[in-house]
Amino acid sequence: MTSIWLADHERPTDQTNHLQQSESADVVIVGAGITGLTTAVLLARAGKDVLVLEARTAGAVTTGNTTGKVSLLQGSTLRQIVPRHGAGLARDYVQGNREAQDWLLRYCETNDVPVQREDDHLYAQSAKEVPSARAVQAAARRAGLEVEWVDDADVPFPFHGGVRLRQQAQINSMHLLASYIKELADRGGRLVEGARVQKLRYQQGRVRLTVKSGTGESEVDAQRCVLATGMPIFDRGGFFARLKPSRSYCMAFEVPGQITRPMFISAGSPTRSVRYAPYGDGERLVIGGASHVVGRKSPVSELEELTAWTRQHFPGAVMTHQWSAQDYSPVDHLPYVGPILPGDEKTLVATGFQKWGMTNGIAAGLLLSARILGGRMDWGRAFSAWSPHEVSGIPTAIQANLEVGYHMAKGWLEPIVRRGPSGADGAVTGPPWHLQARCSVDGVEHRVSPVCPHLGGIVNWNDATKAWECPLHGSRFAPDGTLLEGPAVHGLSASS
Ligand SMILES: Cc1cc2nc3c(=O)[nH]c(=O)nc-3n(C[C@H](O)[C@H](O)[C@H](O)COP(=O)(O)OP(=O)(O)OC[C@H]3O[C@@H](n4cnc5c(N)ncnc54)[C@H](O)[C@@H]3O)c2cc1C
Ligand code: FES
Repeated sequence: MTSIWLADHERPTDQTNHLQQSESADVVIVGAGITGLTTAVLLARAGKDVLVLEARTAGAVTTGNTTGKVSLLQGSTLRQIVPRHGAGLARDYVQGNREAQDWLLRYCETNDVPVQREDDHLYAQSAKEVPSARAVQAAARRAGLEVEWVDDADVPFPFHGGVRLRQQAQINSMHLLASYIKELADRGGRLVEGARVQKLRYQQGRVRLTVKSGTGESEVDAQRCVLATGMPIFDRGGFFARLKPSRSYCMAFEVPGQITRPMFISAGSPTRSVRYAPYGDGERLVIGGASHVVGRKSPVSELEELTAWTRQHFPGAVMTHQWSAQDYSPVDHLPYVGPILPGDEKTLVATGFQKWGMTNGIAAGLLLSARILGGRMDWGRAFSAWSPHEVSGIPTAIQANLEVGYHMAKGWLEPIVRRGPSGADGAVTGPPWHLQARCSVDGVEHRVSPVCPHLGGIVNWNDATKAWECPLHGSRFAPDGTLLEGPAVHGLSASS
C-alpha cells in the first residue's frame, strides 16, 4: 500500500532532528503535509523561529498519498459552492486557489521541482451524466474560470463530452515536500518526525504542547501554534462536527503503448480519476476512485471493479502500486482556515480541502502566514473558519451528525444483536462492557479494544486497507491498534 510518490521518494538524510525535554519556538506547526510545510517555509522566510512536529514522517498521511493534480477545475466542487454561496464568494475561492497555483508553479520552477502542464477535464461517462457536467461548466464560468465544452477526447474509455480547463498542472507531491524540507532547514527551521502532539494548553499567554517522541515526553512552548493535521486534533472548535472524512483509493499501472496525457475526473459515479505520472525511466497511469465515508465501508468489490475498468480500457495494464488516503469535506463546501475558536489567535487551523489540497493547502499556508505576520488577502473570506457563510451548511451538518449518532449507536449495539459466527477476521464482538476487536493479518492475530479514544465510537475493520477505522470522525488504527491518522491522539487500548 505504498503510493507511487512515497515509493519514488529519496528522503533528505540530514534532517533527523530530535526533541529535548523542553523546547521553544516562535511558531510551532503540527503536521508536515503540504499545509504545514508551506506555512513553515513562508514563516521561516520572514525570519520566524519555526518548529514543525510530525507524528509520522513528512507526507505520510494525505499529502504523500494524493493524486497530485494541481487544478482550478476541481471536479464538481464549484457546482457545490456556487449555488450555496453565490458567484462572489465562489470567485474568491477560485482566486485563492489561483494565487496558490501561481505560487506553487513559481516555487517549482525556482527549485527544480518537476511539473507537467496538462489540460484538466470533468467529463460525462454516459449520456446520463451530461447534465451534471454541463452544470459544472455553468458554475465554473460563474466562478470566473475560462472553461470550454468539448464533445470528444482522445481517450480509450467512454467519453460523452466534458468541461475542459487548459494548462493546469500535476506534480509528485513528495518532490515538493523534499524541496520544502531542504529550504526550511537552510533557513534555520526544524522538522521533527515521529513527534506526536498529545496535549495543548495556554500558560502565561503562550501555547504549551505535550509531545511524545522517540526521546520521551517533551514540553514545547511557543507564541503561536498551527494545527495542520487534516482534521484538527483537539476539539475546542468542534470541527469534527462540521467535516465528513472521505477515503479514496488510487492505483498506478504500467501501460503498454500510448498513455492518456490530459487529466480527467468523472462527473458521476463510480468516480474515475485519471492522470499519468513520470516514474523511473518511464511513466505510469494513475487511476483513482471508490470513495466512501471513512469507517463505513470495506470497498473490496469497488476496487476490483476499478481494476477491471482500467484493464478493459488500457489492455495489458499491469498494476505496480496501490494506495489510499482520506480528506475532509466541510458541510458548507468551503475550507476552514483561521482561529480554532473565534478571537483566539494563538491556535490556528486549516482543514476541509475536500480532496483539492494541492492548491487549497498552499492557499491556507499563504493565509496563515499572512495572519501571523500581520497581512491579509481579500479572497480570504472564502476560507474563513468562522463566518456567516457556514449557515448554508447547517442542514448538511445536522444530517451528518444524525448519521454520526446512528453509527455511534450501531457500533455499540450491533455486537449484541449480530447473528452468525462472531469469530470472523476483522470482527467486533462481545457485550458493551467487554467489546473486543479481533483481526488476523499475515498470519498474526491482534486483539484490541474497539473503542475509539477520540469520542468513543466503535471502529470497523476495512479489509481493503487492513486497518480499523472509526465511522464517526475518521480516526484510523493499524491492526495492533497503533494510531495512523485522524483527530484521535492516542491508539486503541489493548483488549482486557
Ligand atoms: C485519494 C486522494 C487524492 C487526492 N488528490 C488530490 C489531487 O489530485 N489534487 C489536489 O489538489 N488534492 C488532492 N487531494 C487532497 C490533498 O491531497 C489534501 O488536501 C492535502 O494533501 C492535505 O494536506 P495537509 O497537509 O492538510 O494534510 P496531511 O498531508 O494529512 O498532513 C497532516 C499531517 O499532520 C500529522 N499529524 C496529525 N496529528 C498529529 C499530531 N497529533 N502530532 C503531530 N502530527 C500530527 C499527520 O501525521 C500528517 O502527516 C487528494 C486527497 C485524497 C484523499
Ligand atoms: S474519530 Fe471521533 S469518535 Fe472516533
